[in-house]
Amino acid sequence: MKIFIDTANIDEIRTANEWGVIDGVTTNPTLVSKEGKDFKSIVDQILSIVDGPISVEVISTDSKGMVKEALEMAKWSENIVIKIPMIPEGLKAVKILNEKGIKTNVTLVFSVNQAILAAKAGATYVSPFIGRLDDIGHDGMQIIRDMVQIYKNEKYGFKTEIIVASVRHPLHVVESAKIGAHVATIPFSVIEKMFKHPLTDIGLEKFLKDWKKVVE
Ligand code: G3P
Repeated sequence: MKIFIDTANIDEIRTANEWGVIDGVTTNPTLVSKEGKDFKSIVDQILSIVDGPISVEVISTDSKGMVKEALEMAKWSENIVIKIPMIPEGLKAVKILNEKGIKTNVTLVFSVNQAILAAKAGATYVSPFIGRLDDIGHDGMQIIRDMVQIYKNEKYGFKTEIIVASVRHPLHVVESAKIGAHVATIPFSVIEKMFKHPLTDIGLEKFLKDWKKVVE
């Protein structure tokens, strides 16, 4: 499973990239707004750090506006992926962008039906938000199981990759990988938690303590 980092924070992206664990980056308007910098300069910095798909989101809600924004952002790099909301106008834009060879990531996906439609329209990626489903008492991971089952049916010829989004804790990552999702996009704080195991810390402390007893 590929791991993307879900943030627009440059320090977090640089750190995770140095750890060698990330394959790409996803942003959204909320994440960009937290940084207090202009959008283009943030994206330029991300592009200079990570050589992989970088998702950036359109703000228009009509297909014409979305395509216009997408064409402009796609000029920034071949790694740019255009995030488009899961609405009818959005899928219209996805179809047009797909025909032009521009990669798309259909976002704000909360149901299997939405994922089927996004794949039919030719989305490169689809982003189901599992944490937000869990928040309202649904089983977010169940839609990932269903999507993986449907997308892998070769008769359907779907090429869309599933990005598990709205990841809240390390167990979401383990489950996504077991189910066979293509990608999980993970906040920095959750990647940090994935490193942690008390036996690693205890074991390292003992090795270092014992090493001091070795006769030189
Ligand atoms: O980037 C989309 C998604 O991962 C947002 O997550 O935590 O705001 O539900 P969250």
